[in-house]
Amino acid sequence: MDINNIINKIVLPESPQWAFVLGSGVDVFNNLQEVVKYNFTDLFGIKPTVSGHSGTLTFGYLKSGSPLIAVLKGRYHVYEGHSLDIVTLPLKVLHALKLKKLVLTNAAGGIDSSFTPADLMLITSYFDCITPNPKGLLNIIKNPPEKYHSNLLSLALALTKKYPNLKQGSYAAVLGPSYETTAEVQMLKMQGASAVGMSTVPELKYALANDIDALALSVITNVWGVQTEMGGHKEVLEVSKIASKQLELFLTELIKLS
Ligand code: HPA
Repeated sequence: MDINNIINKIVLPESPQWAFVLGSGVDVFNNLQEVVKYNFTDLFGIKPTVSGHSGTLTFGYLKSGSPLIAVLKGRYHVYEGHSLDIVTLPLKVLHALKLKKLVLTNAAGGIDSSFTPADLMLITSYFDCITPNPKGLLNIIKNPPEKYHSNLLSLALALTKKYPNLKQGSYAAVLGPSYETTAEVQMLKMQGASAVGMSTVPELKYALANDIDALALSVITNVWGVQTEMGGHKEVLEVSKIASKQLELFLTELIKLS
């Protein structure tokens, strides 16, 4: 995939300062001004296959005079059969456009039993069970989760007092696409995971390695062990939509503060 060919299709008034990757059902920043909008399929030549991910890249302003932001509705996943090169392709394009700040969001299952559906969780550390590892899965899991540091994470942590539903914890990125068995959830819990999902970590690693100030957060759509049953992808989409109101308030404040 030639990045220059993709960039040539994008016409913008200036470089985007911020990008927001929206996970399943996450629905924020729908009222941007001076919008320039592209389809993932037209831009990257690959159709996203997950329902609830429309696959659009929209640029616009929250209001006049504010920084240009990019909103990516949807992403490519390894479980769709894509390589990590494709999973990070939209970010490579944004990086070439001189993106400064990135917020990655996802829908995740809560493992910490103090969480409730529609909570938001700032990801402060992660387990990467998506990127192939020659040492095998158990080697990854038995180590403590990987911490990361960024300006955006520090700013976001300072806001947790103000938003009661804004929690923090460690995110286990697993391959999916099936949801976890009870035994898998128990194992992840024993290792210290607070939530589990199927994305985000490859993108977070790419951003941090390329000097993009990055923050990752989960919308907790279900809580394992507390609920008697998990309602599948439909429930994930419904709860994400509900949590999006709070998320938009928080993200708007984050933009103002930074
Ligand atoms: N597991 C993995 N991914 C998810 C979940 C879950 O419980 N909920 C939303 N995305």
